[in-house]
Amino acid sequence: MKRDLLTLQDLSNEELMHILTLAREVKTSWDPARYGSTLSGRTIALLFQKPSTRTRVSFEVAIRKLGGDSIFLSWHELQLSRGETVSDTARVLERYVDGIVARVGDHQILVDMAENARIPVINALSNRFHPCQIIADLLTIWERFGALKGIKLAYVGDGTNVCNSLLVGCTKVGMDISVACPVGYEPDPEAVQWAFENASRTGSTIIITDEPLEAVKDAHVIYTDTFMSMHIPESEREKRFEVFVPRYQVRPELFEHARPDAVFMHCLPAHRGEEVVSEVIDGPRSIVFDQAENRLHAQVALFIFLYGSSVPS
Ligand code: CP
Ligand code: NVA
Repeated sequence: MKRDLLTLQDLSNEELMHILTLAREVKTSWDPARYGSTLSGRTIALLFQKPSTRTRVSFEVAIRKLGGDSIFLSWHELQLSRGETVSDTARVLERYVDGIVARVGDHQILVDMAENARIPVINALSNRFHPCQIIADLLTIWERFGALKGIKLAYVGDGTNVCNSLLVGCTKVGMDISVACPVGYEPDPEAVQWAFENASRTGSTIIITDEPLEAVKDAHVIYTDTFMSMHIPESEREKRFEVFVPRYQVRPELFEHARPDAVFMHCLPAHRGEEVVSEVIDGPRSIVFDQAENRLHAQVALFIFLYGSSVPS
C-alpha cells in the first residue's frame, strides 16, 4: 500500500525513530552503494503553490542524491490555477510520476491529492502542518543533546503549522513540549489532541499556556516561527503585531529562565526584530543553520523509508 506523509501522525512512533536513525546514518556515513539508487528510474513532482527556498532545494538535492529525477511544478503555471480540480490533477500526475511533494495553502488540497493519487504524497508545508521541517528539527536536537526523550522544547509565538507539527513530533519521540501562544492564536485543536494521545504512550509532558516565561522554564530549546505565515493576509499584520510584540518576541532575557545550555531554533525564514531579535538568532545559542542543513538529510531518509527496502545499520 502506498504511504503518504501529510502529518507526522501518519507515522508510528517507531517509524519516526527509524527515519531519524536513517537520517543520522546518511548524514554521518553516506554510502552511495547502499542508498544512491533508491530513486533510480523514478521521478518525483514538486508542486508548489507558495514560495520556498529550503524545502524546494533540499528536496531537489535529496532526489538527485538518491538517483532520481524531479520536476518542479509551479501551481500558477498548471491548469489548477484555471480551475482544474485537485482530484483530476492527482489522477493525471500519477500516470507520469512516482510521488508528489506538495506545498499548499489549504491542507485539504493535500488530503484530496492523497485520496486521488495511487503514489505517495508528501506535505512540503500546508497552512496546518509542516512535517518534513520537524523531522529535520528532531534530528538537530538529537545531535545537539545526544537524546530526544526527556529533552524539553519551548515554542513561543504564533500557533503556526510548525508549532502544530512540533506538538505531534515531540510527543512521538518522548520529548517534553511547552507552547506559549497569545489567546486566539493557539495551535490547531487536532494537533493538540494528537499530542496528548501520543504523550499518553510516550510519557511526554505538554504545557499549553499564553505565558512565555512559564513555557521556557528549564527548556533545552526555545523555538519560534514568523508572526505572518504565508497564508495569513497582509491586512492582519498590524493587529497581529499589537498582540505579539514585544511579549512573544524571543529576546535574550527569555534564556535566563531556560537551561544554561539552551539553544535557539527557527524553521526560517526569520524576520529579525519581529519574532526574534538579531542578538538571539545571530548569537552563539542559535542552531538555525544546522536545522536548515538537516532538511536535506531528513528528506533523504524519508525517501529511503518510503521507496527503499533498507533498515538502518
Ligand atoms: N523552513 C522552510 O520550509 O523554508 P522554505 O519556506 O524556504 O522552504
Ligand atoms: N509558518 C511559516 C513557516 C515557513 C517555513 C509559514 O507557513 O509561512
